[in-house]
Amino acid sequence: MDKLQSFTRFKKACPYLCRTKTSTLRNLSTSSSPRFPSLSALTERATKCPVMGPALNVRSKEIIAGYASVAGNIDVDKIHKEKGVVPPPGATVEMCPHASAARAAARMAEDLAAAAAKKKAPKAAAAEHPKPGAATTKEAAAAAAAAGCPFHQKAAADAKAAAAPPAAAEAKATKSHTGFNYEKFYVEELDKKHKDKSYRYFNNINRLAQKFPVAHTARVTDEVEVWCANDYLGMGNNPVVLETMHRTLDKYGHGAGGTRNIAGNGAMHLALEQELANLHRKPAALVFSSCYVANDATLSTLGSKLPGCVYFSDNMNHASMIQGMRHSGAKREIFKHNDLVDLEAKLAKYPKDTPKIIAFESVYSMCGSIGPIKEICDLADKYGALTFLDEVHAVGLYGPRGAGVAEHLDYDAHLAAGQSGEAIPGSVMDRIDIITGTLGKSYGAVGGYIAGSDDFVDMVRSYAPGFIFTTSLPPSTIAGARASVAYQKHYVGDRQLKQVNVRTVKDKMSALDIPVIPGPSHIVPVLVGDPELAKAASDKLLGEHDIYVQAINYPTVARGEERLRFTVTPRHTVEQMDRLVKAVDQVFTELQINRLADWKRLGGRADVGVEGKPEYVEPIWTDNQIGIVDGSVPRTLRNGEKPVVDAKAVSAARNIFNNLLGTVEGKLQANRTVVNAEGGVELVTSTVTTKGEMRKSGVALPIVGRMEGEVSQEAVEASAPSS
Ligand SMILES: Cc1ncc(COP(=O)(O)O)c(C=O)c1O
Repeated sequence: MDKLQSFTRFKKACPYLCRTKTSTLRNLSTSSSPRFPSLSALTERATKCPVMGPALNVRSKEIIAGYASVAGNIDVDKIHKEKGVVPPPGATVEMCPHASAARAAARMAEDLAAAAAKKKAPKAAAAEHPKPGAATTKEAAAAAAAAGCPFHQKAAADAKAAAAPPAAAEAKATKSHTGFNYEKFYVEELDKKHKDKSYRYFNNINRLAQKFPVAHTARVTDEVEVWCANDYLGMGNNPVVLETMHRTLDKYGHGAGGTRNIAGNGAMHLALEQELANLHRKPAALVFSSCYVANDATLSTLGSKLPGCVYFSDNMNHASMIQGMRHSGAKREIFKHNDLVDLEAKLAKYPKDTPKIIAFESVYSMCGSIGPIKEICDLADKYGALTFLDEVHAVGLYGPRGAGVAEHLDYDAHLAAGQSGEAIPGSVMDRIDIITGTLGKSYGAVGGYIAGSDDFVDMVRSYAPGFIFTTSLPPSTIAGARASVAYQKHYVGDRQLKQVNVRTVKDKMSALDIPVIPGPSHIVPVLVGDPELAKAASDKLLGEHDIYVQAINYPTVARGEERLRFTVTPRHTVEQMDRLVKAVDQVFTELQINRLADWKRLGGRADVGVEGKPEYVEPIWTDNQIGIVDGSVPRTLRNGEKPVVDAKAVSAARNIFNNLLGTVEGKLQANRTVVNAEGGVELVTSTVTTKGEMRKSGVALPIVGRMEGEVSQEAVEASAPSS
């Protein structure tokens, strides 16, 4: 039920309560009705009003119908049926957002009806003792929710059973508390999300290591192509990563065993931090459980420690940075996205010796824009500010070694400098004070990190609660992440092929007038401009085309700028890309979603069709860097072809673990712990085939080189895992 937020408006509008003081109205609205706990005292009073009473009655029915329509639109229902979405064993109404919200709404509707009927005794009696066979509101709500809810059968059955003895039903639906009505509060909060269409639906998507980018849905036999995962390069199932993880798991077990301070600080953690410091050519790095935590912990620590610190924050910064700055309690100046003039105007307001931090991103993940890093460094120098750069959507993807956009801006210098890890004085990456990145996107693992000076890192390590008071990541995860970082440092082909495929999808969509938001990065955002249409498009693609792309709605993007955000990987095939573009085109036609020409006519939105804004933005990866100029460009896979695994990079990723895991050569393999016939546990290790043995036995070396058919015997040492 809507809280009446504007008491003044309510006072003017209501002939019944118009003489009541605003403060009394406020008190009534915030206290529960003693007789009808799901209602506020104000709502109970309002049921007596000749105008509000009937209106509330109608509204309560709408609430029930509203939940049903959210849960039960035809498309969702169809998808559930087709995809076999069934309640998990033991599912209850409370586990399902739709059913539990519908039941709570029904409870409120019952209370409203009872409150309204209090003075009409005969009607009240009838409500309390319904005719046999007459559906109660509770049953109606459950039936309504059942229309399209993942847990519908169970929810409907539960509600029916619960409806029989009303007292028992209430006891099951909510744990009863005296005083504040917690359940009602939750329902009201969720209701707000449903009303502004920002309620989030999480699809059940299980990406398959052997079939990337294919996943199964709730039913294991139903497979879909994933077009929105942030495992940007498919490193989550790269064979050398999996091999390293298996070996580490067998040696060190699963969990880390404690916080970094107490028993959870191992050689794997320290080595990963060195690897990351080397990647960014910084003296030190520190690993956190995620980059959300890294950003939050670092910004909150810095801002609270630096005396009088002021943050300068791009208005499109990620929630983790915003939270960190808020938690610090430091002052914040928000500058317009990528707007150097606005940033400078804000910096200039403060004396040079005031501690300042400019917090921004390299790749903005929802629109695909790229921050003006070099120019921001210039302003930071001029005004005495630190630079804090979030490279979460860029690490692994930009630069010759995958260190991000800051590295990419001096591509040739970093390429020439090789793997030394030494800073390149004056380079953009060197000028950035603090870089943060994730291990959970391009590196296909989980975790986040910061990189910077020794003392900065030591200070965060020593003060940040988000680093200190939490169990550290498991050694196998850490090792997998390190193998991934090392592999990508030594192999540029995945980055290049990703860019090739991104260009293909953008070009094909643009040719069909599909409104791709122009940008220089790998993100392919397609404007829809309406939250329900965006969800409907996502549902249709999934339900009718087996294509999974999540709709991006408010608050992740501004209202009216809702979109589909596609991520294209080096592992998507020619056929998959063709199918995607055709399906998107069809769905846009069927749902009558605006094309680029429509946006132009309407004056444009979100940089699409806006007069004076470019329709095309040059990609940051040049033709030369992708290998188009010298002909070394990797070729897009076709259905059935094996992805490229680079042998030199495999060797490099293996060698760094020699001291901890021992040496391994030859075919990529993994140890498996298996339960034997007697019920005991044993370790099964497939025989390692060395390069020499393979040659002697004439076994074809299975790993492909950079290009299909171009197999380098010298370099090849491995193959995809056999499982
Ligand atoms: C810009 C940005 N920074 C930080 C994060 C958090 O990273 P992680 O997923 O490692 O917590 C995200 C996550 O999507 C992000 O988009």
